[in-house]
Amino acid sequence: MASILAIESSCDETGVAIIKDGKLLSNVVSTQIEVHAKYGGVMPEIASRLHTENITIVLREALIKAGVKLDEIDAFAITRGPGLIGALHVGMQAAKTLSMLYEKPLIPVHHLAGHIYANEFDKPLTYPLLAVVVSGGNSEFVYMEKELDFKIIGHTRDDAIGECYDKVARVLGLPYPGGVPIDNLAKEGEHTYDLPIPLKGEDTLDLSYSGLKTNVINLVHNLTQKGEEINVKNMCKSFQDVAIGELIKRTIKAVKMYKIKNIVLAGGVSANSYLREQIKIEMDKLGVNVIIPPLWCTTDNASMIAKVGEKLYERKIFALLDIGVDPNWELSDYLNFK
Ligand code: KG4
Repeated sequence: MASILAIESSCDETGVAIIKDGKLLSNVVSTQIEVHAKYGGVMPEIASRLHTENITIVLREALIKAGVKLDEIDAFAITRGPGLIGALHVGMQAAKTLSMLYEKPLIPVHHLAGHIYANEFDKPLTYPLLAVVVSGGNSEFVYMEKELDFKIIGHTRDDAIGECYDKVARVLGLPYPGGVPIDNLAKEGEHTYDLPIPLKGEDTLDLSYSGLKTNVINLVHNLTQKGEEINVKNMCKSFQDVAIGELIKRTIKAVKMYKIKNIVLAGGVSANSYLREQIKIEMDKLGVNVIIPPLWCTTDNASMIAKVGEKLYERKIFALLDIGVDPNWELSDYLNFK
């Protein structure tokens, strides 16, 4: 066991967390959402600049909250990818500097491994399992035979589900990020709009969200041009039924194909109330055990990076100081960071 300080800066949250002998001592997040909301999405250059401004402040607060000094840290864990290249670089440079100054190992962590292991703040994972990873940048089914063994068995062919939520919200005039407002409004709406089913009839574990997104955008524009009023609540409900319905349908297929007994949800979209409710109902029918992350760790933060950092520290998976970031790092390739 050890004291790990972890840094996360892959998108629009600057996070630093400290974990000691398995206990989370601090988890500080500075979110940039308000700034990006003005533009209806994350502006990469602004994200990098804000990470640069905030990183030392967040670092200092995390140390104070944990009551730990930098020279007591045994290793520095860092999100190496995937994410926005400039944003990733800020965290990486901070982590490299600390690793060099304090002569302690640098641990490169895959962001999605972090999302999956965030579930261990609830309970330890039981293998083999299926991780349903759904966020703003990724949608994939990950089969895990054992700890830190990631096999991608299905993924989105185009847009991630979270990105689709954000774009649909934008065309409906809802705030960024769009997941929460759509989730809330859908509860008050009815499924009245006829939207296309992605990859209809295809026997696959892949997902696709770009057609659904474009269809909603075109429908909204057509109705607006004709002067017809859009019922936003009903549009949210119709969209969410298809977006989440498809995810559940493919999850059931993966469960049957791989004879899965344990499922975990991971990533920002795992905060979706309809997904959390429906997956439980459907998996109960199949006798599959479901782990759903606590809401506080569904969004980006460094505690999940620290969790994986601990596991890699035990295995002595360390990087040299010439390591770079990788915005497209594949989860199944998480040990390849040369
Ligand atoms: O995991 P995350 O914080 O960032 C990435 O690593 O991508 O996920 C952010 C995404 C956004 O697209 C946001 O709209 C979505 O998660 N999200 C939701 C909900 N809460 C956040 N999507 C659907 N329903 C929600 N309740």
